[in-house]
Amino acid sequence: MATRVLIGGQWGDEGKGKIVDVLTEKANWIARFQGGNNAGHTVKVGDKKYVLHLIPSGILREGKTCILGNGCVIDPAGFLQELAEVHEGGIDTTGRLWISDRAQLALPYHKALDGAREARNNDEAVKIGTTKRGIGPAYMDKMQRTGLRAGDILEDDFEERLRQNLIEHNQLLKLHGQTELDPDTVVPEVLAATEQMKVMIADTTQTLNAAVSKGESVLFEGAQGTMLDIDHGSYPFVTSSNTTSGGAATGTGIPPHKIEDVIGVVKAYTTRVGEGPFPTELFDDLGAEIARVGDEFGATTGRARRCGWFDAVVARYAVMVNGINWWAVTKLDVLDGFETIKICVAYDVNGERVENLPAHIRKFAACKPIYEEMPGWNCPTTQARTWDDLPENCKAYIKRLEELTCAPAGFVSVGPKRDETILTPSAPADLSL
Ligand code: IMP
Repeated sequence: MATRVLIGGQWGDEGKGKIVDVLTEKANWIARFQGGNNAGHTVKVGDKKYVLHLIPSGILREGKTCILGNGCVIDPAGFLQELAEVHEGGIDTTGRLWISDRAQLALPYHKALDGAREARNNDEAVKIGTTKRGIGPAYMDKMQRTGLRAGDILEDDFEERLRQNLIEHNQLLKLHGQTELDPDTVVPEVLAATEQMKVMIADTTQTLNAAVSKGESVLFEGAQGTMLDIDHGSYPFVTSSNTTSGGAATGTGIPPHKIEDVIGVVKAYTTRVGEGPFPTELFDDLGAEIARVGDEFGATTGRARRCGWFDAVVARYAVMVNGINWWAVTKLDVLDGFETIKICVAYDVNGERVENLPAHIRKFAACKPIYEEMPGWNCPTTQARTWDDLPENCKAYIKRLEELTCAPAGFVSVGPKRDETILTPSAPADLSL
C-alpha cells in the first residue's frame, strides 16, 4: 500500500507510536496531519529513549522524510526543544523534516489562555482536562482567521503581527484574571525560535502530492484518537482537531481518494486521560491493576490514565467514521493475568439497549456498559511471536473483538519492542513484519 492512515480507535494513547515505528520501515514519508505537541510517544532506539510530541517518530530512521502538515499547530519553542533532543541522539535531520507553510503556530499566549480556561472555577465552566499546550486557543485563532501560520514567519510583517496578536490575547488573559504577557520578553523569544524554523518551512502540499503521484509510500500518522475528534468525539471532552481519517486529507492536502488504507489502533482494553464520560471505566482494584501492569501514565503530562474494559461500541463507531480496514490491537499482554475478561457490547441507557454511540454528552454519560464475559488466558504472552504461539483463549478474545467491531485484526502486540508484534491470519496480504 502506498498511502496508509493510522488512527487511534479510542481516546488516544493506543500505542500508535510502536505501530508507526513498525510501519515506517516500509514508508518513504511520514506525515502528521493534526494536533500539536499535545500528543506524545516514547520510542526506544538501542539504549536511547526519545519522547516525541510533534515530530513524527520516522525521523529516527535514516532516509525517511517527515512532514508536519497544514492541519497541525506548531509551538516553535516546543518544536525546537524536541529537535534538539533528536540531534543530541546523533540524528541528522537535514532535508528530512518539513513544516507546512500553511500550518498554524501555537504561541505562548495560546498556552497561557489554555491554562487560564482550565483554571476557571465556576459552575458553567467545562473543565476539559487539556494538556495545557495551547491547542484549543491556537485552533480558535485558525477558525476565526486571525492565526499566524508558519508561512507568515517568512514575511516582513511577522514581528508586527505577532506583537499585535499578543496584545489582543492579553485582553483575553485579563478577562480571565490572569497576568498579561510582556511583549518585550515574549516577542523576541518567539522570533529567536521561529528564525531557526525558517529553513524547514515549505509548501508540503506540493511535495507530498508529487511524492504520491510518483507512487512513493506515505504513512499518515494520526495523533490522539477517534473519541477525541472535535466533530466525532465525546464533545466537549475532545481535542480541537479532526483526529479521524478524513483529517489526513484536509490536514495535508492529499485528496481523499488517494488514501488507500486506514489502520485503526486499539488497546486490548480502554484508557483515557482528561475529563469526560468513559462508560467502561473501572474504579476498583481491577482498574488499578490494569494501570499498574500497563504502565498507564501519559507521555506528555505524566498524568495517570483512567482504565477500563474494551468498549466494542466505541471501536465499532471508530470503524464506521474512519473506514478502518484493519486493527492493530496493542498491549494484549497487559491482560495476561486475568481470570476473566469483559467486553462492553452495548450500553444500557435508562433500561434501553443502545448499540450505537450517542452524540449528546449527557446521553453518553448515562450509558452503562452491557458486558459479555470471556475466560482469560492467565499465562504470559510476551514470548509469543506467531499467531499459533498465542493461547487459545487469547485468540478467541481477538476473534470476538473482530466480530464485535466489524473489522479484522492485522497485528497484535504483546510488548513494547518491535519484535513483540504478531501478524494475524486476518492480516492484509501486503503486510509483513
Ligand atoms: P488538548 O488536546 O490539550 O486540548 O486536550 C483535550 C483533551 O484531549 C484532553 O482530554 C486531553 O487529555 C486529551 N488529549 C490530548 N492529547 C492527547 C494524547 O495524545 N493522548 C491522549 N489524550 C490526549
